[in-house]
Amino acid sequence: MPLSKRRAIRRNLCRIITISSSAAPSPHRFTMSGPLTGAIRVPGDKSISHRSLMLGALAVGETRVTGLLEGEDVLATAVAMRSMGAEITREDSGTWSIHGVGVGSLLQPDVAIEMGNSGTSTRLLMGVIASHAISAVFTGDASLSRRPMGRVIEPLSMMGAQFETSPGGTLPLRLQGACPAVPIEYRVPVASAQVKSAVLLAGLNTAGITRVIEPVMTRDHSERMLRGFGAELTVEEVNGERVIEIRGEATLQPQTIEVPGDPSSAAFFVVAALLTEGSDLVIENVGLNPTRAALLGVLRQMGGSIEELNRRNVGGEPVADLRVRHSALTGIEVDPAVAPSMIDEFPVLFVAAALAKGTTRTSGLDELRVKESDRLSAMATALTLAGAQVEEAEDGLTIHGSGGEPLPGTAEDAAVTTHLDHRIAMSMAVAGLASRKGVLVDDTAPIATSFPTFRALLEEAAA
Ligand code: S3P
Repeated sequence: MPLSKRRAIRRNLCRIITISSSAAPSPHRFTMSGPLTGAIRVPGDKSISHRSLMLGALAVGETRVTGLLEGEDVLATAVAMRSMGAEITREDSGTWSIHGVGVGSLLQPDVAIEMGNSGTSTRLLMGVIASHAISAVFTGDASLSRRPMGRVIEPLSMMGAQFETSPGGTLPLRLQGACPAVPIEYRVPVASAQVKSAVLLAGLNTAGITRVIEPVMTRDHSERMLRGFGAELTVEEVNGERVIEIRGEATLQPQTIEVPGDPSSAAFFVVAALLTEGSDLVIENVGLNPTRAALLGVLRQMGGSIEELNRRNVGGEPVADLRVRHSALTGIEVDPAVAPSMIDEFPVLFVAAALAKGTTRTSGLDELRVKESDRLSAMATALTLAGAQVEEAEDGLTIHGSGGEPLPGTAEDAAVTTHLDHRIAMSMAVAGLASRKGVLVDDTAPIATSFPTFRALLEEAAA
């Protein structure tokens, strides 16, 4: 393509992103509260909610979803699927109805797909579109526009999709889907459910077998749900690696889906209850898929009292009610092998570690540097500002805990920086509950991407 045309596209892409970054920051000081008690429910699982909308839109007929997370990230997925032909409505009861168009029949979106802060929407939808005969421009906020997309561009290009990206393989980018796309065998080079899912979703509309090899297992919601919708998908363990195969040109059958509570959202309340004296809190209906639940094991190893009550199955996923009681925590060395099964929970684990007795060491966490923010650096800086003792290494943090003594907290005019990252905001809110002066968070607006009711629930549990 001639340079002048490339520059023109780039100018257009940049114009779109300038329009899309918005919202004034909303600071708040989180302070010590009474014990957390009673029973609460956290909103639906974010990963499962995204996939319900995407697969519902690719099925033929009506999919009905209860418990869908109504956070900004998931709503961005809903808008995107609507722009490609799916009819998606929310009924007064809170149930979502999705009339899908069928695999292979997505329509050309006539505006840019605005992904806000959501890496999951972006990477999974890039997979969906990569094998359809349509093109799309993806835009996002400042945080998403810094995140690496090369990890999905590489396999999707092998399947025939074409990309035009901003420098460094980032958003805004334009994707031209390939139809017919070519089936591939792809060994995922980083532990990433988003990369795995992007290739499997692209495989849905690709003739033949698309094979993904996963050396390290990551969350398996895509595999479970693709099977639930009737796709021919097999998983085998070969020489310690997971080999996932999907047969393309699938016809998906509409489903009725109940989304369990999000363990990554529950995590903030689990740690808050462990740290707050007198707490005895039940968090109902929490998804406990083993590829998501490692935080609970780590916290128990530190001495946390967390019981699983009423274990059951909800929508093909294991679920339980968690009873969490205030506990004295002790620092540990966290096994890096558990990282993929608690990848989003490290920020709040760092808060637990800052209040534990002794030292907690973590390693093998390079992936945390490319989340909504660089979570190692953001948490090291924020916890230090709140008075914790933290050492930052290339791939982890070492935290010398206070032994249960409240942290000093942040000075009156000193706010911790969230970098447009919901999990930094909520983790530092929990740190605020366990500190003398409280913690001033510079911007609580990002919390709405995954947990819009966070502050209301915190007030309810502490009342
Ligand atoms: C997700 C996968 C994880 C996780 C993200 C949601 C998913 O990302 O951090 O919040 O729904 O597939 P990576 O695939 O980048 O590890």
